[in-house]
This record gives sequence, structure tokens and C-alpha cells, in this order.
Amino acid sequence: MTVVTTLRTDELRPVLVTGGAGFIGANFVLDWCAGQDVPVVTLDKLTYAGNLHNLAGLHGNERHSFVRGDIGDVDFVRTLLSRIKPRAIVNFAAESHVDRSILGPEDFITTNIVGTFRLLETAREYWTGLPQREKESFRFLHVSTDEVYGSLTPEADPFHEASPYSPNSPYSASKAASDHLVRAWHHTYGLPVIITNCSNNYGPYQFPEKLIPLMIHHALAGKPLPVYGDGQQIRDWLYVSDHCAAIRAVLREGQPGHTYAIGGDSEKSNIDVVRTICDALDQERPSAKGSYGQYITFVPDRPGHDRRYAINAGKIRQMLGWRPRESFESGLRKTVRWYLDNAAWTDSVVAGSYRDWLGRNYSAR
Ligand code: NAD
Ligand code: DAU
Repeated sequence: MTVVTTLRTDELRPVLVTGGAGFIGANFVLDWCAGQDVPVVTLDKLTYAGNLHNLAGLHGNERHSFVRGDIGDVDFVRTLLSRIKPRAIVNFAAESHVDRSILGPEDFITTNIVGTFRLLETAREYWTGLPQREKESFRFLHVSTDEVYGSLTPEADPFHEASPYSPNSPYSASKAASDHLVRAWHHTYGLPVIITNCSNNYGPYQFPEKLIPLMIHHALAGKPLPVYGDGQQIRDWLYVSDHCAAIRAVLREGQPGHTYAIGGDSEKSNIDVVRTICDALDQERPSAKGSYGQYITFVPDRPGHDRRYAINAGKIRQMLGWRPRESFESGLRKTVRWYLDNAAWTDSVVAGSYRDWLGRNYSAR
């Protein structure tokens, strides 16, 4: 797969989106291309989590190009940057699944830490050579997670931009390390970076290893719905298009050197999420075998499982006027309908290696 076009170097300089064939990245690219003329170049390694089907809606769109590659491949990224001359880089590329980081942390170190470091260095070299005006308007936006802050007690205030870092899993530790690198590249070299730390996303195109799509997929197949531990862990859920809108706002108006905490103000326990999914499926796709809730199964907990995440999104609300459009109820209903209407997408991504993953993660539980 190669870049389709050599893009113009005038006011239509593109945005480079790394990891844009994954869940949030693909939603970001699709929403971006639907809403504006600025071109996008998607760079993605196409790991198990990246899927070109996610971008099929852009086939033939002259404002979008795709290139397959690794953010850690310095020569490749250097050549790409000098060819497309992006106005900004939005970095979604990462290994993103906590359970995979527990069973095999090395890829997380390689991509999330070393890969981000190399991307920063290549971006810095490119940015240093830009004319002054373009240098000032350039942005390196690093998409990160609320998990870098660790775990909250039930009575604690939600995380915010000044919360101390306290990551607990190999995944969150690798994302925390990447955040520190990004911050340092601003402080030391002046690279105009912005970091966003977002809570749990859900919506179309999410790989069915994550809680919500896994439960939908298993329920429809009549398979056990594996709830870790007591199911009372809490996450703050945000519909993916609301996250994408927040990133666009930050790219437009965010301050270099700042971080923005993004969340849905929608704390739910895992067992409540799974029951809500079952209720939605009971209404949207009733089964002759009875309620989908019958498949809920409590299984041994995730090692080091964080108990609660929650975000205070006051800064981005006040400074940039962003707020989520979807409630958890409306977003979840949309999501369930999307998976019901797009069974072929799920079938295409749950090929051999997905079955291997289910065996590795769940058979010993
Ligand atoms: P995902 O796993 O669905 O997608 C990651 C994408 O990155 C895939 O397309 C993959 O092929 C690509 N990729 C992986 N390694 C790469 C490399 N070395 N070079 C180029 N591309 C590579 O992840 P997601 O859920 O879409 O998350 C995207 C980003 O948002 C991640 O950085 C994640 O930490 C962050 N985030 C996710 C959530 C969430 O709830 N999913 C919440 C907050 C932040
Ligand atoms: O908080 C943001 C983070 O949210 C992102 O940075 C991560 O990339 C993203 O994967 C997500 O991490 P979580 O670990 O919270 O998401 P996951 O969907 O894996 O799990 C959500 C909760 O559900 C968590 O408490 C574990 C639980 N769970 C998960 C799975 C896959 C289960 O009970 N059973 C399961 O089978």
C-alpha cells in the first residue's frame, strides 16, 4: 500500500493521522473527511487492530490517502513528511489493549515508547526545517488515556490535567512514558505538542477484544459473557465521535504545551454496562432462547485491575467549549445497532488470530 497522491504544499497541506486504521483513528479520519476540505494522510502499520475496511467509506476520496508503515521507522516517516508536508500530526498509533499488555508487554514498549520517541524525533527534524509561519502553526497532537493516572477510590474526585501519574498496567505505563516524552520534547526543544488524556471510548469499528464489542459479539453467538472479578469496576464512557470532536477542537484551538482531559461524565460499573447491552439486544434482536443476560459469567479478575476511572473535563469544556453530544444510553443504542447492521465487519476481523487471542486470554480463567 502506498501514498496515492503527492499532496499540495499550499493552504491545503494535510493532517497526518497515525494509527488511523484503528478504532478511534478511523472514526476520526471518517468524521474529518465528512466535515472539511483539509486533506488527511493516514499512516498505519495494520497490526491485528488496524483494518482498511474501517476506511472503505473513503475509497475514491481525493482528499484522503493511505500509507502502510510503522511510526518507529525513521527513514520511512522522514520521507513521508518531506513529501506530504503536513500541518499537523495526530498520533493515535499504539498497542491499546490492557489484557494483551499483561500477557505480552514487549510490543507496548516497542510501539508506545520507542515508536513515539522516534516519531517525535522525526517530527522535530521536519518541524525545525519549516518556514517560521508554518513552524508556529504546526501541531503534534498525542492521543493518550486516563489510565496514566492510575486507579480512583470510590469517593475520590475525578482525574484532571494536574492529577499525578500513577500507571498500573504495562499498557498504561507505556502510555505514561510516551506522554512524558511528548511533554519533554515541548519543554526542551519547543516542539508545539498537545496531549489529550481520554476515558473509555465505545462505538463503531471497535475491535471485539474490548468490553462492549466483545459482549455484543459473544451474546449474539450465545457464548459466555466474561465479566472480570465482581464486575464493580467503574469506567467513564465516551462515545467515539464525541472524542473525535474533542480532538478537532484541541487541534484548532488548544494551546501548545497543554494537556486536555476528555471524558463522558458517564461513570458505569462493568456489570451495569453488560446488563445494559443485554437489555438493548433483547429489544433490538430478541432471541428465541431467552434473554441475553443468561450468558453473563463471572470469571477470575484481570491482574492489577484498576478499580475506577473518571475524568473531570472542565478545562476543555470551559476553554474550548467542547461537550459530549451523546449520553451513554443513546451512544450505546447506536453502537448496538451498528454491530447488528455490520455483522460482516465483525466477521472479517474475527479471523484466526482473534480466536487465538480468545484462547490465550479466557481459557485459563
Ligand atoms: P486500536 O488498537 O484500535 O488502534 C491502534 C492503531 O494503531 C491500529 O490501527 C494499529 O494498526 C496502529 N498501530 C499500532 N502500532 C503501530 C505502529 N508501530 N505504527 C503505525 N501504526 C500502528 O486503538 P484505539 O482504541 O483506536 O486507540 C487509539 C489511541 O487512543 C491509542 O493511542 C490509545 O492509547 C488511545 N486511547 C484509547 C482509548 C479507548 O478507549 N480505546 C481511550 C483513550 C485513549
Ligand atoms: O480508559 C481508557 C482506556 O480504556 C484506553 O486507554 C484503552 O486503550 C482501552 O482499551 C480501555 O481500557 P480498559 O481496560 O478500561 O478497557 P477494556 O474494554 O479492556 O475493559 C473495560 C472494563 O471491562 C475493564 O474494567 C475490564 C472489564 N472487562 C474487559 C473485558 C475485555 C471484563 O470484565 N471482561 C472482558 O472480557
